[in-house]
Amino acid sequence: MYKLLIRPVLFLFDAETIHDFVLKFFSEAAFLFPLLSKIYSPKKNTEVSAGPMVFKNSIGLAAGFDKNGIALRLCQALGFSHVEIGTVTPLAQKGNSRPRIFRLKKDSAIINRLGFNNQGADAVGKNILNSRKFINPNFIIGVNIGKNKDTLIKDAFKDYTMCFKKLYDAADYFTLNVSSPNTEGLRELQEERYLDNLLYEVQNLNKEISKLKNSALKCIFLKIAPDLTDSAIETIFKLAVKNKLTGIIATNSTVKRLNLKEQTNEQGGLSGKPLKSMSDKVLEKLDSYNKNDSYPLILIGVGGVFSKKDFEDKISSGASLVQIYTGFIYEGPGILKRILSG
Ligand code: FNR
Repeated sequence: MYKLLIRPVLFLFDAETIHDFVLKFFSEAAFLFPLLSKIYSPKKNTEVSAGPMVFKNSIGLAAGFDKNGIALRLCQALGFSHVEIGTVTPLAQKGNSRPRIFRLKKDSAIINRLGFNNQGADAVGKNILNSRKFINPNFIIGVNIGKNKDTLIKDAFKDYTMCFKKLYDAADYFTLNVSSPNTEGLRELQEERYLDNLLYEVQNLNKEISKLKNSALKCIFLKIAPDLTDSAIETIFKLAVKNKLTGIIATNSTVKRLNLKEQTNEQGGLSGKPLKSMSDKVLEKLDSYNKNDSYPLILIGVGGVFSKKDFEDKISSGASLVQIYTGFIYEGPGILKRILSG
């Protein structure tokens, strides 16, 4: 029904306009949540443990879907085990000029160059904490953090630590986004000269806060790009282990335009089906390092998941958890049940 009736109507409108409308409508339509949950939540959940966190199933909504934490109850009602809010920056920012999301229908893909449009850490923290009253404790909320556009790369770690502090109580886990292609210079943070310090500073703050609060360390993931060389992936893996991260999320969208059916000159990150094999390869590389290390990282696979087979590919490439974004837009909310129930 979604592909036949609903998607053709939604796709008549500008991608961002309809996304914002649907999110706002459903975030305020609390009376619909029990019905949505009945229709879309998988009947059978298989729990997945990742460090101290227990996920009710292995699929979550990837970062970028709910940038401000306004639709947590909707994401829960649709049956996902977790949602990653953000990317959130210390200060609110508008992002790039519109239009900035483009559908490549023939490729089942999306190009976006949003540029971290979000309400800022204080407001997003409040949104999440307000919704928590209505959220089941077994629904995991990750917060994906980044830097403001105007912050110099050498000072970027200060933006991440500021977000970490401001969003500490709101987040079950954090993701450090160093891989968005739409903030100039951001992906340089994947280089050792910046990454080691960034991971050290955030983890150090994590230790300080946990000591103060007498609580366990927060889980921290690093989200990386699909466009890295093997040696860059290896370096990142080693730094993640050295700084005792919880895991790595592979991957963000790509700046490459490989094997596309549709001609496009739009700049930005490409997601969806054309990304799948690229992000699978990054996952496989990480998994091979993981097998030889005494401190295994938890891998989260994201990129081009549209079917049960795509999901199984991620799991067999080493992922413990899988996230979806573009597949959800093209396949509709039934995608989760189809994947998990076969
Ligand atoms: C994204 N993605 C993303 N990732 C991130 O870390 N921070 C963000 O703010 C966003 N924003 C965003 C907006 C839009 C419109 C899209 C389509 C994607 C990337 C996303 O989380 C995911 O890593 C990639 O899209 C690959 O997965 P899919 O879409 O192929 O399932």
